[in-house]
Amino acid sequence: MFSLQAWLSDETAARLPRHEQISRALRAAILAGHWPAGSRLPATRQLACELGHARSTIEQAYAQLEAEGYLQRRVGAGSFVSLPASLPLRRSPSPPAAARLSQRGQAIADTGACREATLGVGTESRQLFSGQPDSQAFPHALWGKLLLQRWRQDGPALMRYGDPQGLPALRTAIASYLALARGVNCQPEQVLVLSSSQQALLLAGQLLLDAGELAWLEEPGYLGARNALLAAGAQLCPVPVDDEGLNTNGEYPKPKLIYTTPSHQYPLGMAMSLPRRMALLARARAAGAWIIEDDYDGEFQYDTHSLPALQSLDPDGRVIYVGTFSKVLFGSLRLAYMVVPANLVEAFSNARTAFDGHSNQLLQAVTADFMAGGHFASHLRQMRLLYQRRRDILLASLAEHCPALSVRHHSAGLQCAVYTPPGREAGWTTLGRAQGLPLRPLAQFYAGPPDREGWLMGYAALSNEEIRRQIDTLGRILRHSA
Ligand SMILES: Cc1ncc(COP(=O)(O)O)c(C=O)c1O
Repeated sequence: MFSLQAWLSDETAARLPRHEQISRALRAAILAGHWPAGSRLPATRQLACELGHARSTIEQAYAQLEAEGYLQRRVGAGSFVSLPASLPLRRSPSPPAAARLSQRGQAIADTGACREATLGVGTESRQLFSGQPDSQAFPHALWGKLLLQRWRQDGPALMRYGDPQGLPALRTAIASYLALARGVNCQPEQVLVLSSSQQALLLAGQLLLDAGELAWLEEPGYLGARNALLAAGAQLCPVPVDDEGLNTNGEYPKPKLIYTTPSHQYPLGMAMSLPRRMALLARARAAGAWIIEDDYDGEFQYDTHSLPALQSLDPDGRVIYVGTFSKVLFGSLRLAYMVVPANLVEAFSNARTAFDGHSNQLLQAVTADFMAGGHFASHLRQMRLLYQRRRDILLASLAEHCPALSVRHHSAGLQCAVYTPPGREAGWTTLGRAQGLPLRPLAQFYAGPPDREGWLMGYAALSNEEIRRQIDTLGRILRHSA
């Protein structure tokens, strides 16, 4: 026989007042078809007795369901289920059928998601794969002070909706920083503040590519870019990189858009040479293509002075420059920016309103204060020194413990590619993972067969000791399986 008791064991309901727990259980039982339309519910006195509650509690529950339209109560006759008989009822739970997605939706779901940024989240130990900045070295107290100051000063204004292009003060700070540090040609009017570089790539794909149009991507390259362009329905053409960066000398079909990381190729780490930059701009001009320059960690240059951004060489407004605060400040801030040619500003700002409106106003304001107050520049200087030191420790530890491995491009960024001798990577990866080293094979970043073997190692978020310890462990694994 049906008993309401079983429906009352819902744990999430346990904190509700008793009459609400009962009305919730009755509602669920009605929707599941245990009392069909028109049928009579037990009398309140009977249910009170059965459940061991006061009759007034059951009365309250019935009254609630009557007010919601589930019951009709007739004096002297009882309480009847008043739902229309045609209402589809929730039957007992069965495994959900696969949802039918649109073709575009299916293509996006099939990319398998890009979880690079979230690797390591939830794990206790900090690992070589992270590629993240060091959150412990962030000036928390200062940030908290600025946050409080800004909230006190402008709280109500910052609670309102904001400009889809971004807070003017932040756009101004970004434009002057980019002009000074990266040689970018831009006015604050060309800057769009976004929640991530990923959003920049997504917007660019949606606005600039029709389904089936061709995009060139670096091979190997950034999975986030590949997924954003696939989401736009683009056809992808992997173009190889060598020691000078993206090599556009081969014969490839004409692109509509080219994605590149010229300051610090992701994942291999070389900087694009000047001749290659000029050749790329010339190829884009000949094809009438847009270039997306993803300068995701160009701030961190250690041994050499970096070339200014590719955008600074662009004479005819075809380079879209993308930068992020994820590496220089912290990832969960969710603030990034793009600098677009003047004739794209309106389209991108309008598109931003169709996506999520704008980024968090308070955090934009605090970031603007952090930059205008000179804290950004000094944080950057300190982080550059800290990460350079960690990079040096990584290189020294690899040389000491893992002589079979080699490193080529290590002058910038928060991670570097480490090469293994041919045929060894897969076996060593398995052994490393078994010892708690979740090594990230370079093969993951290739669309086609990889032409190099090795791993991408992030070092910036690890202490000197953690780097030494993990490389020491790796060294032992390599020696024992030689
Ligand atoms: C090449 C590249 N671009 C962009 C990003 C991420 O930036 P955001 O957090 O702003 O999406 C990453 C993150 O790892 C990256 O490797």
